[in-house]
Amino acid sequence: MSTIFSGIQPSGTLSIGNYIGAMKHFVELQNDHNCYFCIVDEHAITVPQDRLKLRQNIRSLAALYLAAGIDHEKATLFIQSEVSAHTQMGWILQSISYIGELERMTQFKDKSNGKEAVSAALLTYPPLMAADILLYNTDIVPVGDDQKQHLELTRNLAQRFNNKFNDIFTVPDISMPEVGARIMSLQDPLKKMSKSDDNEKAFISMLDEPKKIEKKIKSAVTDSEGIVKFDKENKPGIANLMTILASCTDKSVKDVEADFEGVGYGEFKAAVAESVINVLAPIQQRYNDLINSEKLDDILDDGANRAARVANKNLAKAKKAIGLGRVKK
Ligand code: TYM
Repeated sequence: MSTIFSGIQPSGTLSIGNYIGAMKHFVELQNDHNCYFCIVDEHAITVPQDRLKLRQNIRSLAALYLAAGIDHEKATLFIQSEVSAHTQMGWILQSISYIGELERMTQFKDKSNGKEAVSAALLTYPPLMAADILLYNTDIVPVGDDQKQHLELTRNLAQRFNNKFNDIFTVPDISMPEVGARIMSLQDPLKKMSKSDDNEKAFISMLDEPKKIEKKIKSAVTDSEGIVKFDKENKPGIANLMTILASCTDKSVKDVEADFEGVGYGEFKAAVAESVINVLAPIQQRYNDLINSEKLDDILDDGANRAARVANKNLAKAKKAIGLGRVKK
C-alpha cells in the first residue's frame, strides 16, 4: 500500500479552491492508501499571524478535514507543531538546501515582493515542506498546481541527501487532479483563488452561507460573449466556473459544455452556485457538530502520537546518516 502525505495551512478558512484542488481527493485516497494529513501551522507563521486567530484557524481546519470526510480510523490527521520531528528534519534539510534555489521559488518571490520585513522562514519554508513529506516515506503527494515547484525541490533534496549520505529517503511523486488543480479568483480569473485574498468576493470560503455563495458567483467576472464554452485563454472566467461546476458534480468539462449549450450566463451561474452549495451544505453541518467537541481533541491527540512514531524513526535515521548526536559507548 503506498503512502500519501499532504498538508494545508491554517491561514484562513479554506476556499473552494483548496477543496477542489486538494481536500476532495484526500477523501477519495484514504480508502486504499496509508494516509497522513497535516495542519501545517508552522508553515502559517512564515507570514505574520494573529495568535488567537491562528489558534482558531488550526481547530477549524481540523474540523473541516473531518467534516469533508477524512476518517481518522483510515487516515492519520495531526497538527504539524505537535510533532517536533518536522522542524528538526526541516533544519537538516535546510543544511543541504542552497539559498539560490530557495530564492527562485515563485511563492517566495510572490509573497515577499514589495514587502519590507520578510521573515527568514518564508525563504526556508520549502525545506520544511520537504521534511513534512520525507518523514513519512511518502510515495505520493496530492496537491494543487501551485505546489508543483515545491514538490520538485522536495524530490531534489531527497535525492541530494540520499546521494550525499545514505539512501534513506523515498523520492515522492506529485499527484494533481485532472480537473481543478488551479481554481481561479472569481474577480480576476487570471489570478489563483486564494483563501487570504483581501477581496472577499474573489473566493468562496468552505463555510460561506448559501446566500453568500449565490451572491459571489453572480458577481463573478465573465465576458460579454454569452456562450458557455471552455476556452481558458479567451474566456478564463467562464472556464473557471465550468471547472468548479464539473468538479462539484463529478462531471467532465465537456459534459458541462454540452449540458449548457444555448444557456445564458444567469442560468449557468445559478447552476454553478447550486452545485457548490450542494457540496458544502453537508460539510458545514458536520463541521458545526465537530468544532467544539472533545472528540476533535481526541482525534488530534491520537493523530500526533501515530505520526510521531513514524516521524521519529525516520528522523533518527537521518540524524545517524548525517552524523548528528553520538553513538553511546
Ligand atoms: P495551501 O495551504 O496554500 O493549500 C492547500 C492545498 O490546496 C491547494 N490549492 C489549490 N488548488 C486548486 N486551486 C486553488 N486556487 C488552490 N489554492 C490552494 C494547494 O495546492 C494545496 O494542495 N505549502 C502548502 C502546504 C504544505 C504541504 C506540505 C502540502 C506544507 N507541507 C507537504 C503537501 C505536502 C500550502 O501552502 O498549501
